[in-house]
Amino acid sequence: MSPILETSSQRWPNEAACAASAAALARHPGLRNAFIELHGPLGAGKTTFVRHLLHALGVEGRVKSPTYALMESYEIERDAAVLPIWHFDFYRFDDPQEWEDAGFRDVFASTGLKLVEWPEKAEGLLPRADLRVFIEPEADEQRSVSITAHTPLGMELIA
Ligand SMILES: Nc1ncnc2c1ncn2[C@@H]1O[C@H](COP(=O)(O)OP(=O)(O)O)[C@@H](O)[C@H]1O
Ligand SMILES: [Mg+2]
Repeated sequence: MSPILETSSQRWPNEAACAASAAALARHPGLRNAFIELHGPLGAGKTTFVRHLLHALGVEGRVKSPTYALMESYEIERDAAVLPIWHFDFYRFDDPQEWEDAGFRDVFASTGLKLVEWPEKAEGLLPRADLRVFIEPEADEQRSVSITAHTPLGMELIA
């Protein structure tokens, strides 16, 4: 694990708080070249957070969970430029050869926003994340959330 440069703790009493946190993150200009990992058990709210983030960024229509496809990609216009966004879910990833064949190495070398659920399933292949978001379900809709920054860009994003 790469060193933690900064940590921010949050409590989401409900999904609206998750949406508000995603909307706050969406306002950061540094997001255009960020790699964010989402950690937490099944049903924690990783995909939900990504949905709120993408909608806050202006993605229209359905944001599908990439559980089967491994990756869904989007393009939005932001600051008069095209911003590519890649949403991964590595829950079912088990073939490192696919990393090369599917072009994932190229994605992580490109400028754009990368959001990754189940990054632990692709350990050793992924570069260092800027941010890690850990979502822990508590009672009902309550989530305890900690966000760690691992790069200067990550520190900027949680400031
Ligand atoms: N505070 C909350 N934050 C995020 N999602 C929540 C919250 N409370 C309830 N939910 C619900 O929990 C579920 C999370 O599912 P999902 O985002 O698919 O989880 P994951 O991708 O982590 O497996 C959704 O049905 C969402 O509506
Ligand atoms: Mg998910």
